[in-house]
Amino acid sequence: MAELNLILLGPPGAGKGTQAERITEDFNLPYIATGNILRAAVSEGTELGIKAKSFMDAGALVPDELIIAVILERLQAADAQDGFLLDGFPRTVPQAEALGTQLAGLERHLSAVLLIDVTDEEVVRRLSGRRVSAKTGRVYHVEFDPPKNEGVCDIDGSRLIQRDDDKPETILNRLAVYHEQTEPLVGFYTELGLLRRFDGARPPVEVHDHIRAQIATLRLEDRI
Ligand code: AP5
Repeated sequence: MAELNLILLGPPGAGKGTQAERITEDFNLPYIATGNILRAAVSEGTELGIKAKSFMDAGALVPDELIIAVILERLQAADAQDGFLLDGFPRTVPQAEALGTQLAGLERHLSAVLLIDVTDEEVVRRLSGRRVSAKTGRVYHVEFDPPKNEGVCDIDGSRLIQRDDDKPETILNRLAVYHEQTEPLVGFYTELGLLRRFDGARPPVEVHDHIRAQIATLRLEDRI
């Protein structure tokens, strides 16, 4: 069976991380999430983290030249040779072009770009109620997906926190940045025949069922 090289696309808070957890389990793919990579770099105080922090705190994108090199190198690791799930990359047309060039040079290609669609109003509701465990990475929502015990992670009891960029004024900026810099990728990947759109307003379990069914269909059609 051909390798499965997937991209998750969508506005902040669409549910990309939530779905990624399920998809990586279904298909045993390495999960490469630029937001997680950058947040780890910030908390470890690496050179990348120091450069990225102010952009992230403001809800802006970190410069292409910082992130492209990191992700293209990550894709060359042994665990990504039979497939991958990218979340948060590419986020600009130059990032998409750089990824396309690298994959073409390796005679690899993308299988599909999974767009999770939600309205701006829903994004604000979701991000303002999101809580995460800094230790396990498990994501919750105070209303839609609460932990069993308030404020602590179901997995290991670690404390749940609110991300710095989930403050109301930063959320609005992230949305504006998405529409301006990332949304053009919808057209970019539609033209390449790779875009698959999912209604992210549905409950997580339904969104997951739709994504899984779509990947199964692609496999049946022998496209991947
Ligand atoms: P990143 O971490 O990638 O953030 P994001 O794209 O803004 O996405 P989020 O993680 O906020 O949301 P999500 O779609 O994963 O939603 P989630 O599943 O958590 O990036 C952070 C920053 O890093 C950027 O702003 C930028 O500065 C920098 N960066 C990253 N990549 C970069 C790049 N390539 N280039 C430049 N800079 C880059 O769900 C959200 C909430 O909703 C949760 O509480 C969840 O429980 C709930 N929820 C999920 N699904 C549902 C549902 N179906 N129904 C109801 N609630 C739901």
